[in-house]
Amino acid sequence: MKGLDQDRVFLITGGIGGIGLGVAQTLLEYGSRVVVTDVVGEEGADEVARLGAGDRVRYVDLDVTDPEAAESVADQLEADGWPVFGLMANAGVAPTSPTVDYPDDTWRTTVDINLNGVFWTVRSFGRRMVERGEGAIILTSSIAGLRVVSPETHVAYGATKAAVAHMASLLGVEWAKEGVRVNALAPGYTDTSILDAIREESPETIEEWKHRTPLGRLIQPEEIGQAAAFLFSDLASGITATTLSVDGGYAAR
Ligand SMILES: NC(=O)c1ccc[n+]([C@@H]2O[C@H](COP(=O)([O-])OP(=O)(O)OC[C@H]3O[C@@H](n4cnc5c(N)ncnc54)[C@H](O)[C@@H]3O)[C@@H](O)[C@H]2O)c1
Repeated sequence: MKGLDQDRVFLITGGIGGIGLGVAQTLLEYGSRVVVTDVVGEEGADEVARLGAGDRVRYVDLDVTDPEAAESVADQLEADGWPVFGLMANAGVAPTSPTVDYPDDTWRTTVDINLNGVFWTVRSFGRRMVERGEGAIILTSSIAGLRVVSPETHVAYGATKAAVAHMASLLGVEWAKEGVRVNALAPGYTDTSILDAIREESPETIEEWKHRTPLGRLIQPEEIGQAAAFLFSDLASGITATTLSVDGGYAAR
């Protein structure tokens, strides 16, 4: 895809999850170099080796809740000749709880990973893109940030994902003249381990989600990968400050 086959470097946070690996695989197929980051140590390195892309892919631990970590990973990659052209700020958690009983820790952790973590990451890598005068950023929002989804109750998740979609508009406008495009992706219900708890506790909920999705099925991680590749590519040169839903039509209902 135009602009992805030029040895550009793309970094994905939360990259060992289902969506992150789907995006990494797709970008590698288009000829990019990819840095998969997560908080899983050796397991991450093993998983990335299984992608079979040799030295075009590497794994680095990056806890998005640590602003210093984002700075030092960005510095190290530049020193290694891997300056990040494209960032996907994708790490996220999705705990559910009725709001009247919502635990303090769960609220803080969710905001710390899903919102603060996106900001620390974008600030570090985005500043370097602005300095170089080129780059592309994708923030992973969710249909739950654009609509009130049900039956799950997850006030922190929905609020952080709404904030992330708006952050993409804010930064897309701020950096438009700097050569850096910023967009959000809003996946619908996607077949990854983030759904595991609900799959176990309430399989009928998964069936309900499929029923409410006009395409009648879960989205596959590769489908998020293709959308991310498009937004990162030069084919999307006119697209910034917006949110693209990949949800099988869910949000239109
Ligand atoms: N799967 C879906 O249905 C769906 C729908 C809409 C949006 N999303 C969003 O897509 C993104 C990826 O979700 P997924 O489905 O691949 O989930 P996943 O649980 O498979 O992956 C999430 C990854 O984030 C990592 N992570 C957690 N805390 C972290 C931290 N502090 N620093 C860095 N990484 C951390 C986890 O280790 C995990 O690998 C999330 O932001 C999620 O909210 C998912």
